[in-house]
Amino acid sequence: MAKVAIFASGSGSNFENIVLCADKGELNNIEITSLYTDHHDAYCVKRAEQLKVAVNINEPKDFESKAAYEQHVIKLLQREEVEWIILAGYMRLIGPDLLEAYEGKILNIHPSLLPKYKGKDAIGQAFNSGDKITGSTVHYVDSGMDTGEIIDQRQCDIKSDDTKEELEERVKQLEYELYPSVIAKVIK
Ligand code: GRF
Repeated sequence: MAKVAIFASGSGSNFENIVLCADKGELNNIEITSLYTDHHDAYCVKRAEQLKVAVNINEPKDFESKAAYEQHVIKLLQREEVEWIILAGYMRLIGPDLLEAYEGKILNIHPSLLPKYKGKDAIGQAFNSGDKITGSTVHYVDSGMDTGEIIDQRQCDIKSDDTKEELEERVKQLEYELYPSVIAKVIK
């Protein structure tokens, strides 16, 4: 069983879904040690409390540099013997320190069919594109923005009468299946 930490900055619905899948026995390959967040008031913190998952809150503004922030996080991860990092809505580029410490062991989920629509507001980019399909991608993390090796994708329709919120919800539903299935396959 590999120890994993989940990183999130916002709502944390993917984080919650992964924890619930693990609780149901669908992810017997992992043990979730804790949630890491860079925002003390993010909703993912409340979810973690409800789910009784330990939370590590570290805000980069409290450190003199990104390297110092990441070195602190690495120390905490190593203390918990974390082997893999699962990014689930963590709104920060992973820097060289964390990348080196966890080379090939960081996963991310991005709400588009990469390589399309990297970066912020991928749902909005797809929504405004005129495309008929979009989806979600799980990939390894490298130093770029959503550029790492793609592991798996799922797709869904963009309907002509969709609101952006409806599209976002459809993509989220895909993610709740996609991310656990990749975690079960990739993390040993
Ligand atoms: C997801 O759509 C994920 O693809 C992206 O950020 C969103 C996080 O949503 N990286 P949530 O916080 O898990 O609800």
